[in-house]
Amino acid sequence: MNIYQKLKTDHDRHRELMRQIVDTSGDSEERRRLFEVLARDVESHAAAEEQTLYSELIESVESQPQTRHSVSEHKEASDYLEELKSTDMSNPAWLMTFKKFQDALEHHMKEEENDVFELSEDVIDDDRAVALGAKFEGRKEVEKRRVEG
Ligand SMILES: [Fe+2]
Ligand SMILES: [Fe+2]
Repeated sequence: MNIYQKLKTDHDRHRELMRQIVDTSGDSEERRRLFEVLARDVESHAAAEEQTLYSELIESVESQPQTRHSVSEHKEASDYLEELKSTDMSNPAWLMTFKKFQDALEHHMKEEENDVFELSEDVIDDDRAVALGAKFEGRKEVEKRRVEG
């Protein structure tokens, strides 16, 4: 699998988890469990993405502006996650903030799939895209352990 397929698989999982979370209510076991899985996966995904795909794209003049934009959206997502972690789940504000996070992340993933991947195919050749897929997987595991610890 190349890096695009791996990223898309993660994105689809994030979309599904977010859909499930908006259907939960209050400070429930289910909301707690799903949010924990989602937050850890989104954080390690973004970090590994920056260490693989974006670290190559920042090297090319053509893809620098898009890379900076994507990285700033990672920061936005991580700020939302911090806000959610420090808000009581039984507070109605939690779901309102979660929906803003969902909109922002949906937008970000769509942009990656539509614009970033296309740009990247001009800059990174097919063999490199496969190697980056394996590297992404490895980096994500490391990041996941770091987020857990
Ligand atoms: Fe991203
Ligand atoms: Fe992504």
